[in-house]
Amino acid sequence: MFETQMSDAHSRQKHDDEVLQWVQKQKNDLPTPLYLYSETVLNEAVATYRAFFPKNARGFYALKANPQPALVNHFASLGIGGEITGQAEWEFCLSAGLRPANILAGGVVKSLPFLEMLCQAGPAAIVIESEAEWARLKQAAHHAAQVRILLRINPGVSFGGLNMAGGSQFGLSNEQALAIAQECKAIPQIELLGLHFYFGSQRLEVAPIVQAVEVVEETIRTFRAAGVTIHVVDLGLGCGVPYLARDKALDEAALREQLQTHWQDPVWADIDIWFEAGRALVARSGYYIARVVDRKELHGETFVFLDGGLNVHNPGVGLGGFLRRNPQFRFITEHFVEREETINLVGNLCTTADTVGTNVAAPFLDEGDFVAIPNAGAYCQTTAMWGFNSQPLFYEGLLTCDGFFKSYLPQHELT
Ligand SMILES: Cc1ncc(COP(=O)(O)O)c(C=O)c1O
Repeated sequence: MFETQMSDAHSRQKHDDEVLQWVQKQKNDLPTPLYLYSETVLNEAVATYRAFFPKNARGFYALKANPQPALVNHFASLGIGGEITGQAEWEFCLSAGLRPANILAGGVVKSLPFLEMLCQAGPAAIVIESEAEWARLKQAAHHAAQVRILLRINPGVSFGGLNMAGGSQFGLSNEQALAIAQECKAIPQIELLGLHFYFGSQRLEVAPIVQAVEVVEETIRTFRAAGVTIHVVDLGLGCGVPYLARDKALDEAALREQLQTHWQDPVWADIDIWFEAGRALVARSGYYIARVVDRKELHGETFVFLDGGLNVHNPGVGLGGFLRRNPQFRFITEHFVEREETINLVGNLCTTADTVGTNVAAPFLDEGDFVAIPNAGAYCQTTAMWGFNSQPLFYEGLLTCDGFFKSYLPQHELT
């Protein structure tokens, strides 16, 4: 029923139209606010991301983008493992049916009990973030049979987008990582698989992503020169998504071409490439759908109230960046008034910050109409202000390729 190949912006737009027509038909039966995920787009995103890498590359879905186990399970059915940041995401992966060997254990700070659990369970690898964490791992690995690790490298330089490299608190310097790699040689139960790189997120330009890969290549050479064998390199490219009306999508074809040229470099010979990605796999599949619950004219302005604003939806570009910047909107209305009006779209919280769109050109909207925000599958749910005003939270579900709706248990009810 829905298109399975979306090679360009035009066909993506066409798919959005199809999804929204479906929403319009089901309007009376759909619970809101709703995160609706398109299976067609999920499948397409995985295929696009895989094509950036060599054929045998191994992929991990970063649950921080959206920990919904049904999505994790869908990715697993496409051969993608899970990348987790702590105990809860580990359990979401297990409940989604992933085996420990297909889970990559990241996370900024891992406690001793968490590391002990991981050492017994046997994940694909544990990513070491600091010297103190390395010390805890050695303790945790005492009674383990075999523990595989990756060392997360922070190269001390930054590369645009939401930077998580130079100047950030993440990872190890080359010197720190080299010292750990040398020490590791003498600990038989800990196997150094290789290096981990994640330099930042929401990158909409090709250049900083390719530059980061060049830094990775430089780092591999440094480690080899120091006598450290690298079997695996795990890379998070941090590909971005056009959330805001003014954002321009990443040129995926250009990125694919440049990356495929890089993998031909002899530095990559004998290295298994792993990739981890959140936003790029799940963001485009998600449509945030809210119902209009009120409208008012006040001092010359029109306010249209939705049944969920900032408490359930943040476009995930960072709170500071979200407020008062408009995402793309789509409208589903039964009212046929020809003239557009300029409105402010607001939620139901007791703060003026709860503004979803400012000075938005929209058709006449009234109670019962729907407002949809595409590209809402990643970070929008998890970074929203869930507790504020104790308003009802959101529903979630999948629109299957053949046009059926599968309801999911909402994330806030998972734990
Ligand atoms: C270590 C690590 N890996 C993967 C991701 C997922 O990033 P993205 O959603 O940009 O793909 C993040 C995001 O913060 C991260 O910190």
